Amino acid sequence: MNREISIREVGTRDGIQSLGAFIDTPRKVELLEALGDTGLRRIEATSFVNPRAVPQMADASEVMAHVRRRPGVSYEALVPNVRGAQDAMAARMDSVLVVLMASEAFNRKNVRMSVDDSLAQSASIKSVADEAGVRCTGAIGTAFGCPYEGDIPEGRVFDLIERFVDLGFDELMLADTTGMANPLQIEHTLGTVLDRWGDRIAFGLHLHNTRGMGLANVVAGLNAGVMTFDASVAGIGGCPFAPQAAGNISTEDTVHMLHEMGYATGIDLERLIEVARLAQDILGRELPGQVMKAGPRWQLHAA
Ligand code: COA
Ligand code: ZN
Repeated sequence: MNREISIREVGTRDGIQSLGAFIDTPRKVELLEALGDTGLRRIEATSFVNPRAVPQMADASEVMAHVRRRPGVSYEALVPNVRGAQDAMAARMDSVLVVLMASEAFNRKNVRMSVDDSLAQSASIKSVADEAGVRCTGAIGTAFGCPYEGDIPEGRVFDLIERFVDLGFDELMLADTTGMANPLQIEHTLGTVLDRWGDRIAFGLHLHNTRGMGLANVVAGLNAGVMTFDASVAGIGGCPFAPQAAGNISTEDTVHMLHEMGYATGIDLERLIEVARLAQDILGRELPGQVMKAGPRWQLHAA
């Protein structure tokens, strides 16, 4: 059994995108550089989106121009359209992520397009990335439930997976955008997905801890054979278009659990905990991550 799990850090994108107060560019750069020193191999650093839709991401190009990039780390960005993909190429991103929603209602709120139009954008974005020799990952949001539409039929997600496979994508993230998935659902759906498409395309999970099911869903994903997980340092996060959206699963809590379970991540947990504390300092408030407060399980206290 392969016990090497890949973590994609999304704190400086998903984590901070819905914060009201603008985080100054140098502090974003500081957080990214600290994350780059933890052993993380993939960092979704920012997004290239309409700054009126997501003001926090307005300085994406500037952040990427200033950040000291650690060799071996893939710096990735979310892009909603071709314009965003072109900006991402200009910023020399290593990989772009194109998201569409399984829910029509949510997709329209998020990118003001139908799901079909988003699929067309995904094809064009992939061409832009292919031409530049840049990796392109797909993502299907609200794959396990939508705050506007409720249950999402599995068949709808499967149809979208087919479309991404047809478009030549080789990696797809399934996202529980607002923390509605339960562990049995994750294990069942991902089991089916990996059975049907696992030999053609790699799958990862993007989980939110909105209702406290985040880490249980990681275990369910592991049971189904998933080996890539998105997470956000200190558990920062939330989508500006998702009511009451809470943070992503916390990176350090996830890494701590994985290490305790005998999985390898290549990440230095103690350094990561320091970065979670830095994130609290930058945001100026207590953040949801738990291990940074309790300390790792193996850290004994004086009797
Ligand atoms: N980056 C920067 N600016 C962009 C842009 C991008 N990727 N895409 C469009 N714009 C600009 C256009 O140039 C135009 O500017 P102008 O008014 O000065 O001429 C303006 O935005 C409107 O363009 P339009 O194509 O009509 O876009 P829209 O207003 O319908 O918005 C999106 C569509 C997709 C650009 C916008 O909804 C968006 O950025 N969404 C991102 C959502 C997100 O990040 N969600 C969280 C992650 S799941
Ligand atoms: Zn998310």
